[in-house]
Amino acid sequence: MNKIPDGTTVELTGTFDGHVHLRQKKTGLLELTLPDLLDEFGGALIMCNTEPPITSIRLGLDYRAEVLSELPAGAEFDALFTYYLTDEAKADEIVEGYRRRIWRACKYMPNNGSTNTARALTRFRNGYPIYERMEEEDIPLLLHAETVGDRIDPFDAPRVFISEEMPELRKRFPKLRVCLEHITDGTAADYMAEAERNNEPTWATLTPQHFVYSRNRIFQRGSVREGTFRRGSNPSFVCWPLLQREEPHRQKLLQQVAGGNNRIGLGTDRAPHDFDKAKACEDGCGGCYPGRLALAIYAMGFEAIGSFEHFQNFACRNIPCGLYRLPPGKKKIRLTKCAARPSTMPEKIGEVVPILHGEKIPWREEAVC
Ligand code: DOR
Ligand code: ZN
Ligand code: ZN
Repeated sequence: MNKIPDGTTVELTGTFDGHVHLRQKKTGLLELTLPDLLDEFGGALIMCNTEPPITSIRLGLDYRAEVLSELPAGAEFDALFTYYLTDEAKADEIVEGYRRRIWRACKYMPNNGSTNTARALTRFRNGYPIYERMEEEDIPLLLHAETVGDRIDPFDAPRVFISEEMPELRKRFPKLRVCLEHITDGTAADYMAEAERNNEPTWATLTPQHFVYSRNRIFQRGSVREGTFRRGSNPSFVCWPLLQREEPHRQKLLQQVAGGNNRIGLGTDRAPHDFDKAKACEDGCGGCYPGRLALAIYAMGFEAIGSFEHFQNFACRNIPCGLYRLPPGKKKIRLTKCAARPSTMPEKIGEVVPILHGEKIPWREEAVC
């Protein structure tokens, strides 16, 4: 991975995390993890699978107030929120909340497919009347694009969703702004290549873990590069959708990023959990946490594919300016290659165990004022 010399720098202006889970004060995780996000990003799209989930204007206003009250005084941070789709969703309320900017998008999650999804739509197609109204009102639909069930191999779940749902969705609602969240596999990469060719209003976010690692990491601790490799289960790398095989899946995603597909951008899907109580246990949750080194992990990915020229658009433009039509942000981060004095991911952040915990990352980050 030591491809470029120490001292090489990359500057990013307008960093935006297109997919985050911040939780709530009552979990203790909001206060714990918000500073990590603020350290690296000038804005974020905040997910709605809280407890209870954000299914009304009242809940949306309460959650927004809760998150904003945790921002330090004077913080310049663009916090965008989302609405959680259920079988009972009311189109009029969705439209009103969107016009009042209480939320900027609606999120589809598969029922019982992930954290706090017991109330999510029971079938993706149940949402068609809502999607129709969203298309008319130009409200983005964010997709946790997996079809789950006891007869579906969990590694196939994203492919099943994309092949069974996307053609029909696109036929019915060609103008609907859609984002395939946390893309994982070759099917999604092929879909995004087509979307770019056809100028289709579909975007995609890519997490640091899906960008840089294959599913081997779920069964591995440490790294060969550092001489710390050993086999062993590694719940810190379990997230929904799961990491995929190197070939053809991760390689196809990399090709899209290396080719500068301007519909694919940064979304960490930072999803903190108490490691012992909620993750490395019976019924453990999916969710990866990159601490405050998400951009350093992405830098390893861009280094490996030799495409730093696309890093700025990926991290700062494609999602906030392309999908959400925000003006360019201001937050500036400088990344410096530093194999001689690497960053180290902490073993633990409170009760959260981040990915690559205890491992070294040969990039350093600093805010530039
Ligand atoms: O791994 C995941 N964790 N995937 C999701 O869709 C939700 C997230 C969470 O909230 O924990
Ligand atoms: Zn998701
Ligand atoms: Zn998520």
